Amino acid sequence: MQVLAVTPEIFPLIKTGGLADVAGALPVALAGQGVTTRTLIPGYPAVMSAFRKKKALYQYPGLQGGKAAIHAASVSGLDLFMLDAPHLFDRAGGPYGDATGADWPDNWRRFAALSQAGADIAGGAISGYAPDLVHVHDWQSAMTLAYMRYGMANTVPSVITVHNLAFQGQFAAAIFPELGLPASAMALDGVEYYGGVGFLKAGLQAASAITTVSPTYAQEIRTPAFGMGLDGLLNLRAGDLHGIVNGIDTEIWNPATDPHLVANYSLKSLKARKANRKAVEDRFNLVSDDSPIVCVVSRLTWQKGMDILAASLDDLVAAGSRLAVLGSGDQGLEGALLAGAARHRGRVGVVVGYDEALSHMMQGGCDAIVIPSRFEPCGLTQLYGLRYGCVPIVARTGGLADTVIDANEAAIAAGVATGFQLAPESAAALGHAIRRVISAHADPMVWTAIQKQGMKADVSWDRSAQKYVQLYKSLIAKGQPAE
Ligand code: ADP
Ligand code: GLC
Repeated sequence: MQVLAVTPEIFPLIKTGGLADVAGALPVALAGQGVTTRTLIPGYPAVMSAFRKKKALYQYPGLQGGKAAIHAASVSGLDLFMLDAPHLFDRAGGPYGDATGADWPDNWRRFAALSQAGADIAGGAISGYAPDLVHVHDWQSAMTLAYMRYGMANTVPSVITVHNLAFQGQFAAAIFPELGLPASAMALDGVEYYGGVGFLKAGLQAASAITTVSPTYAQEIRTPAFGMGLDGLLNLRAGDLHGIVNGIDTEIWNPATDPHLVANYSLKSLKARKANRKAVEDRFNLVSDDSPIVCVVSRLTWQKGMDILAASLDDLVAAGSRLAVLGSGDQGLEGALLAGAARHRGRVGVVVGYDEALSHMMQGGCDAIVIPSRFEPCGLTQLYGLRYGCVPIVARTGGLADTVIDANEAAIAAGVATGFQLAPESAAALGHAIRRVISAHADPMVWTAIQKQGMKADVSWDRSAQKYVQLYKSLIAKGQPAE
């Protein structure tokens, strides 16, 4: 089976969050189950410069205002198509905005172009390549399905995966004439969204099936509280909506071989974590003592509950924990966390920035990782935490609720606990959870049992990749009804 994936980011080439990890790991897992994936990504500078050998397979004399070409290349077991369109993607900064974090004003044009290319490939633009199914991720590639639906490829079945409903790609109606879609597409069951154009909405409408990245989030987004305006549509399409929990790449995230750790270890040699812990203490200027180091590796945003964390800092320190924070994002939150570190020298350390290697070291050296999200489609850092014996402390929402078993007394007695859950997302509940963590940590038997149980949990892609394969097969068998 041949699947064309379309995504705005993919590890190891370009990453701002979990979507990149998923887009990079899922094809590898699917390959083990007989599915060949080719992934179309934008030709950002980091992407185009990664390959000396490229082959232009398709040329556009004009695509959203400039020349463009589709290239093919392979990296780390991933087969890629790259959309080389310098007028859209050859820019310094991030994939979605400039160095200050401001979104590019022409993002609609950039991701309409990516989507147009996706639909063209699905429709046969690359000679000799005909995917059996198209799988797109988030709003940036969602319009692929609209271009397919209103164009040449409306017979190829499709899946859209929602990684985060908070990002919808909503634009003014004025852009519609420049999208190159027929006038009929500007309709309630097309791309129209609250009077404007909705990229994610258009994809949700056109997809053969919709998936999101955990069963609990799949339920949550059907409610007004989590649906972000799309709960009505998602309820209408409930029969085609599936929650499939993310896995992780257990080769890249393997404490026994991870090159970013000072000391490698496994279930049987947990004591070796000490050397990593020491490295974390040094990097974050923390005092050395026996109290647990709780860490955060996160975008600093409201979604992630980072304001709740900042408001709880004094309490968490008073309860006896140390805290190491790696993150970037909202400047107000960065400031609040840095101020907390200044108040609690030696007990709270904050590194503002994005540092892949340090994130591995923290999972390998800290005692626990806290994720007090208000909503969390899946979350990957708790899965890395499980694999590394860095016990997750999570809000009971979305994928966090689905992947961490709370260490209540019954679960501890049954030997199944893998972490700590807190609810509701509040400073009081976070303080309560940290106190439970500190008391469990004080009993090495209990703590090691939780750590080891987490490390035994299956966080690989095996089961979830199987679910995607089953879904793909059922859609291909059904075929896409022609409109
Ligand atoms: P989201 O995609 O919503 O940000 P996830 O938990 O799914 O949340 O994925 C976040 C990914 O980004 C993880 O791989 C995590 O380790 C990584 N990450 C987040 N912030 C940082 C940072 N400041 N430095 C390094 N890695 C980070
Ligand atoms: C999004 C979500 C996160 C999820 C990731 C990968 O960024 O916020 O919860 O883990 O996508 O699916």
